[in-house]
Amino acid sequence: MKVAYRICALIIIISVFGKAKEVVVSHKVEIDYSELADEAEINKHNILEFLNKTRVQEKYKRLFGTLLNKLTTYTKATRRGSTRRIVFGVNTSIAAVPWQVSLREKTYPICGGSIITALWLLTAAHCLLRSRPNDLSVRLGSSWKTHGGEMYDIKESYVHPKYIRNTKVNDVGLIKLYSPLRFSARVLPIRMVEKGARMLADQAAIVSGWGKLRESGPSATFLQSSTIMTIAMKLCRHSGLDRNPIDPASMFCAGSFSQPAPDACQGDSGGPLVSEGVLIGVVSWGLGCARGNFPGVYTRLTNPVIWDWVYGLISRTSRTNNTL
Ligand code: ARG
Repeated sequence: MKVAYRICALIIIISVFGKAKEVVVSHKVEIDYSELADEAEINKHNILEFLNKTRVQEKYKRLFGTLLNKLTTYTKATRRGSTRRIVFGVNTSIAAVPWQVSLREKTYPICGGSIITALWLLTAAHCLLRSRPNDLSVRLGSSWKTHGGEMYDIKESYVHPKYIRNTKVNDVGLIKLYSPLRFSARVLPIRMVEKGARMLADQAAIVSGWGKLRESGPSATFLQSSTIMTIAMKLCRHSGLDRNPIDPASMFCAGSFSQPAPDACQGDSGGPLVSEGVLIGVVSWGLGCARGNFPGVYTRLTNPVIWDWVYGLISRTSRTNNTL
């Protein structure tokens, strides 16, 4: 009898704690990508063509709009409360940004990245410098940094041949998986911005990742995202970032010059910056995080030097490997 009581008590404790854990993330932003995911899975052998279709782009754009609205409402709600996270992000389900991946070195999370085809992931060059492909892996399809979703080994990793380590010029890298992914509402590619496309200032964009919640604070365990604005080069160059030169050809700025200043932070590198449902940038660097006087710096994917290199690698494989 006593044993039965103990078991009962244990079950109650477990369920109460289980609930408590759920409560922590009961407020999270979510989007339903399942329809697009089904189509993407059917078209994964020619995913680049699929993502290029106007009809598909419209869908991504619409869902991006929905996410933007949700983030705005949600951010206002949490500001009223006391959850002041730096990066000023909000809990975001992987279902809202299903292209987001967590890059790890020997299981330790180091950077973010984005799914761009069934075989290729995009990240920052500086995320790939220290490790060999053998030591790298990625977690996909999970909102949690340390569990859930699926882990994949990395077959090959590539750093842009014109990446310059001390200035972070051309900070882009590619990761190739051993076998094609199965797309779902939580694992989905995102289309890269068009080559040479004109980028506008003051456009809303969404940055996501499991990086630090404040400049010298802990990193997120649950995925965070935040809306930030693209910033005109002129303005950005006049900010304190001048001490570290911003190369206008391969970089652009996004963030805010006023408080609160949502921003990416250490650990978010390599992750996506998405606008209008299109991947426009890769988290690259900054001076501290969310300081309000220094915006974040992102890799400019429209730059032909960057774009051609990425597209050249990812499209070569999809043409020669018809099992993709
Ligand atoms: N380099 C950093 C990383 O490796 C990203 C920093 C971005 N910083 C910023 N303030 N936006 O994770």
